[in-house]
Amino acid sequence: MKVFIGLLLILGSSFASRLINSDELQELFTKVLKNETADNDLKTIQDVFEIYRPASSSLKMQFESNGRTDVTCLICTSAFAALRDLVFEGQTDEMLSEAIINICISLRIVSDRTCKGIVPLNIPILTYIIKTTPEAAPRTFCGLLLQNADNPNTCPYNDPRFEWTIDLPEENPIQNDQIATSNSEVLRAVLVTDAHIDPLYEPNGVADCDELTCCRKGQTPRSDTYKTDIPDSVFKKRIHEVKDDFIMDLDLADDIRNLSNAIRTARNSPRAGYWGDYRNCDSPLWAYDDVIETIAKHKDIDVVYYIGDNIDHHVWETTYELIDGVNSYVIDKMKKEFGENILVVPCIGNHESQPTNQFAPSTIKGDKLNTTWLYNSLAKKWDFYLTEDAKATLKKYGSFTMLIRPGLRVISLNNNYAYRYNWWLVYDPLESKRLMEWLVRELHKAELVGEKVHILAHIPPGVHNLYYTWTREYNRVINRFSKTIAGEFNGHTHSDEFKVFYNEAGAPAAVAWGAGSATAYSGYNCNYKIATFDPNTYEPRNIVNYVYNLTEANLAPNRRPHWFQLYDMKNSFQLDDLSAASMNNLLYRMVTEDLLSLDLYAAFYSKISDRRWPNCNNYCKIDNLCKTVVTVLWHRERCEELRNLFFKTISN
Ligand SMILES: *[C@@H]1O[C@H](CO)[C@@H](O)[C@H](O)[C@H]1NC(C)=O
Ligand SMILES: *[C@@H]1O[C@H](CO)[C@@H](O)[C@H](O)[C@H]1NC(C)=O
Ligand SMILES: *[C@@H]1O[C@H](CO)[C@@H](O)[C@H](O)[C@H]1NC(C)=O
Ligand SMILES: *[C@@H]1O[C@H](CO)[C@@H](O)[C@H](O)[C@H]1NC(C)=O
Repeated sequence: MKVFIGLLLILGSSFASRLINSDELQELFTKVLKNETADNDLKTIQDVFEIYRPASSSLKMQFESNGRTDVTCLICTSAFAALRDLVFEGQTDEMLSEAIINICISLRIVSDRTCKGIVPLNIPILTYIIKTTPEAAPRTFCGLLLQNADNPNTCPYNDPRFEWTIDLPEENPIQNDQIATSNSEVLRAVLVTDAHIDPLYEPNGVADCDELTCCRKGQTPRSDTYKTDIPDSVFKKRIHEVKDDFIMDLDLADDIRNLSNAIRTARNSPRAGYWGDYRNCDSPLWAYDDVIETIAKHKDIDVVYYIGDNIDHHVWETTYELIDGVNSYVIDKMKKEFGENILVVPCIGNHESQPTNQFAPSTIKGDKLNTTWLYNSLAKKWDFYLTEDAKATLKKYGSFTMLIRPGLRVISLNNNYAYRYNWWLVYDPLESKRLMEWLVRELHKAELVGEKVHILAHIPPGVHNLYYTWTREYNRVINRFSKTIAGEFNGHTHSDEFKVFYNEAGAPAAVAWGAGSATAYSGYNCNYKIATFDPNTYEPRNIVNYVYNLTEANLAPNRRPHWFQLYDMKNSFQLDDLSAASMNNLLYRMVTEDLLSLDLYAAFYSKISDRRWPNCNNYCKIDNLCKTVVTVLWHRERCEELRNLFFKTISN
């Protein structure tokens, strides 16, 4: 949604001074949204945008703190404050959309199509929330939007509704014995996620385009690159902190332009690959077909966990029809290839909704606002696989649970509610709490009857994606039910990673396994995994990852990609088992006596992508490792510990 903020960055100025504070910024945003700007205001608008862009670069968000990220917070908050004032003044959605689109187009930052698409998709939700929610402060919208993985002070918001704790039932001192199962056979589950199908993918099309996602029919090439790598000192020179506010010197925009001009170059990029592309491109239908048909050749699989994100990243032109069509295609193809005897358990990704990332509470009914349409349509599409009970909770929360074998329950958890880009969090953060309460009830029921549980949830906790309280409370839930939860599986990141959860005493308590992605977006090879589970504990015995080399596949479009086994977790990392304790040991080993395993992890992280793997230096390797041990947002002590151990080891 960075784009969206971008689009709100519209301001005009008739101020003589080139200095501007947040109140003046807000006034200017208001003028622009009211279409009251004079011609010479365009320069000011462009200047602010020039400053916002490098300051919001996602790379910076990950690695930097202070000064510059706070600029984005200041600008964002002023924009949302202006929007709120105008909503209360009675401006209609149509007027607001039109004003924002006009400015967006005049800035020429993104294509006209992007402007005309993204604004009307989001404005109705934003204005509805602003009108109905007294607590919907501009700072809350921005605090979530700009949430940073390692700096709680990037854009702090102060909304007490976000501070909640979950009630956990007492643990029964007498543990119910595992339901005696007659299964002596291991359970084999396929882990597959993030197909991101673009039905309009064009082989040999434009892979480096003037929009955020490319390779779609009808796109035009980008003519220059934009430098976002601006040194901190440039920002610090022109932005001054004054009490709780800032004064920004708009000449900063010229500094940035001067630095950027140096690298503006004409682009002449290779065309889009046939099987997909490492650049910002989704997957063609035939690449998805290939993944599913390849998986279907394994004759011994029992169940398929599909962890979400069917839909493409052309988020400014999603439609209900397109989403519906792709959602049907994804599940129908699996049913066709796997046959009726293999269960598929799906999970909802953040891209399934309309617009992308928006998951409204079930009480929201209105046109263009509700998420009920998605839940109802998925209940129909997934009907073959789901029980009546499962369909009932799917329709309410987009989540469900099913006993898939005697003694093994799967919970498909729609944690997109807690995603920072979900505007509806500002409307009612407690909807995500209610979802977690449902999770706790289901886990408790399972515990009481001695069932083991696998949790499927699209977004992994810890880094910048889910909001703080959710990650903290989720950690408590995982710890409380660590004897019942035998495995957790995530998607979303497209990288291949795992996460270790720790208990209050600091001991490893559980592991969440990333499934990777069936798309190459962006810079990854495609993959699927096969996990084998102990028939009694349902803990993973091993997880094997299958990939193909996209560079190689695209050299021979007429040949099916050459899939091969990249690694098997247990043997490649010399593990006794895949328990939390073993995975924790591995992490410490990687930064002390076994740097080779750290290198392996870095190679496997991108699935040996030609785009990413060769570029993964020591900082990248440690960053990967940090993601494995941070499950509560901003709780990075263990990450620091691993980092220090690593640099000590390599300096010896
Ligand atoms: C905005 O103002 C310009 C000129 O001042 C006018 O041509 C245009 O129609 C206005 N747009 C809206 C949405 O009122
Ligand atoms: C940017 O570069 C131009 C031309 O080299 C120069 O005249 C101008 O002073 C520079 N601006 C800033 C803010 O450095
Ligand atoms: C939900 O929104 C969709 C799309 O705007 C609309 O067709 C549908 O009628 C709405 N559902 C309800 C229950 O209002
Ligand atoms: C992928 O294939 C290309 C083309 O054959 C080759 O140059 C490259 O080294 C391969 N990558 C890996 C990681 O093997």
